Amino acid sequence: MTFSRSHAHSPYMEYAKLHSAAKYNLATSGVMSYPLAELPVRMEGLEINGPTVYGYAPLQERLAKLNGVREENVVAATGTSLANHLAMAALFDPGDEVLIEEPTYELLTSAAEFLGAKIRRFPRDFSHGFAIDPADVRKAVTPKTRLIVITNLHNPSSVLVSEQTLKDIGEIADSVGARVLVDEVYLESLWEKRPKPAIHLGEQFVVTSSLTKAYGLSGVRCGWILAEPKLAIRIWRLNDLFAATPAHPAELISVVALDNLDRVTKRARGILEANHQSMNSFLSSRTDLEMVRPGIGTTVFPKLLKRSVDAFDRFLRERYETGVVPGSFFEMPQHFRMGLGGDPAMTHEALARLSEALDKFS
Ligand SMILES: Cc1ncc(COP(=O)(O)O)c(C=O)c1O
Repeated sequence: MTFSRSHAHSPYMEYAKLHSAAKYNLATSGVMSYPLAELPVRMEGLEINGPTVYGYAPLQERLAKLNGVREENVVAATGTSLANHLAMAALFDPGDEVLIEEPTYELLTSAAEFLGAKIRRFPRDFSHGFAIDPADVRKAVTPKTRLIVITNLHNPSSVLVSEQTLKDIGEIADSVGARVLVDEVYLESLWEKRPKPAIHLGEQFVVTSSLTKAYGLSGVRCGWILAEPKLAIRIWRLNDLFAATPAHPAELISVVALDNLDRVTKRARGILEANHQSMNSFLSSRTDLEMVRPGIGTTVFPKLLKRSVDAFDRFLRERYETGVVPGSFFEMPQHFRMGLGGDPAMTHEALARLSEALDKFS
């Protein structure tokens, strides 16, 4: 089917919004919502409009500190979603070649296609633990490549890309004058073990992220792009065509959230640690699944060894009220993705139901 810009849409986002909910929900990818009531947000501290021009100074300052960069490296954006869209729009023109990992988060390929990229792919093979082999990137790159796109942690598998691999990819990009876009939205969940954002490895790196996944703060839409200063200015100007000015109440709440990130982190860590334990017991008990187990992050992506995942997904939802994300949304239909960010008691029950469903199904 030929691509139509006016009919562009995201099958994954449609699924996530309309069909993924379940009583026992393993279909989410981030930590469950942090309640606003647990943040010291005061009505008197909120305002409709504020002194935001190209950024809101208190937010710029905190995002720079969080990432160990200068404020001139930071472009605030409405979630990682708009951050990715903006960064791509600034980094290639229609007809340019863009290299994207496979499998990946579907919105990255959809956004690149919408922006007119000629998309080429390089594999992150399941048989190699979803690692990136720089030789595959080297093979796929051409003099026309303008951008290489990866997720770190990897969505769907949560695999971490090593610093050496990032450096290798940076060199490959440099050799053809391309940049590397690293979507680090899941990297936040590594807490104190978190490597520095990839922009610290060189100016060919552009990083996107947000407070969405690791902290359960999706609704404040506190996203950002990290880029070298000249590029950052270009992206700010481009944003005038997309979002112009952000919602100021959201900026104010983001500042409060960033000032209280310790308490948000503590809760998120507790949830993820409990769910990793439940998930480990579940995965160790299954011989009908094959998997990479990075032991970090907010998702896992096992392979069902026999029978169809789509049929299993229907069976699981109908009989066990339990939801996972079919791997077809990640170009790997024999896999399914499970999230570790839900309420621990619910996640425990969902995994028990999943076990029973797998036993009955096979
Ligand atoms: C890799 C990746 N990037 C970006 C997003 C969207 O993030 P945000 O909610 O901050 O827009 C998602 C959401 O699933 C994601 O998986």
